[in-house]
Amino acid sequence: MINHHKSSPLALEREANDTNTRVLAIESSCDETSCAVVNDLWVESNVIASQVQTHAKFGGIVPEIASRYHLDAIVPVVREALEQANVTFDAIDAIAVTHGPGLAGALLVGIQMARGLALALDKPLYGIHHLEGHLVSACLGDEQQHPILFEPHIALVVSGGHTELIEVKKLGQYRILGATRDDAAGEAFDKVAKMLGLGYPGGPVIDRLAEAGDSQAFEFPRAMLRQQNFEFSFSGLKTAVAMHLDQHGQPQSHQHLCDICAAFQAAVVDVLVNKACMAVKKTKSQSLHVVGGVAANSGLRAGVMAAAQIHNFTATMAPLRYCGDNAAMIAGAAALRIKAGFYPLVEMQPSIPLDDPSLWLSQ
Ligand code: KG4
Ligand code: ZN
Repeated sequence: MINHHKSSPLALEREANDTNTRVLAIESSCDETSCAVVNDLWVESNVIASQVQTHAKFGGIVPEIASRYHLDAIVPVVREALEQANVTFDAIDAIAVTHGPGLAGALLVGIQMARGLALALDKPLYGIHHLEGHLVSACLGDEQQHPILFEPHIALVVSGGHTELIEVKKLGQYRILGATRDDAAGEAFDKVAKMLGLGYPGGPVIDRLAEAGDSQAFEFPRAMLRQQNFEFSFSGLKTAVAMHLDQHGQPQSHQHLCDICAAFQAAVVDVLVNKACMAVKKTKSQSLHVVGGVAANSGLRAGVMAAAQIHNFTATMAPLRYCGDNAAMIAGAAALRIKAGFYPLVEMQPSIPLDDPSLWLSQ
């Protein structure tokens, strides 16, 4: 089943296990066209064609443009993923695709491609929930690190579309402890960056500028921090930054800009870290995973690691290369599903919640 030729110690260890399942997966739910080949949780290739530059000039994602771009990118991306993994279709055991949630027109491109491949190659086809993919992203391994087991944990999912605390009981069984009432954390980064004229996406730029700023230069609100629930709200924080700009005008110096970024980021990180710790404590969990695009944030990574030391739990941050949307996490989730005996199933679900019973009933 395995004809992968790589000679690193990690690759040899992977090849020694002939019960592995090799999955080719496609992710096209938003503005990244991605295809990956994953052998159990070992990533063999993970190709991502990002449309971010295309959407940057509109200040956000334009769904029609996203679908058209996916159509152009999908075939070369699949070819490249096979090439980088150094395998042919013969070595693939199953096909997987993100079936939701996401932009309908964007999802459709990935799903149709995956359906075509599964039919032509006579392989099973697994539809994967996008957030289940993010949950698995923290467990992926590659030439740089060993995969880790997907065991019960608390997950903080923070991306452009989601801010959720989830109790992961086992694969497919998730309890949503709380979510944002308004903007997602990544959305807040993007909107504040837009106000400051920093372009889209805002997270990475704010993160970089915050490094040179003083997080205590301004006091921005930490909404719902003291409330004993797992809900979030970031729209008030966004308004506070807008009011600051109304009063003081656009930053007159680079230092002022860096200070605003640092103070804003500290407010987001404070709430995320505190609520995540509260969730770990309340559920008596030993382990926290942080995943999604915002998990790349250096302030959040440092804050979570420090809190884990103080409160004595294990924190696992998704590797930086798997924080943003990618197909490796979708393939990893499918490999776990195959091992756990779930049925192959694919149906487009643009707004399916993570606790939908269909995610665990197909076993
Ligand atoms: O997971 P992702 O790639 O796509 C979604 O599923 O939404 O997340 C994208 C989001 C964007 O809002 C982006 O600004 C944010 O992740 N992001 C960051 C950082 N890198 C990306 N936010 C804060 N700090 C970062 N370093
Ligand atoms: Zn995502």
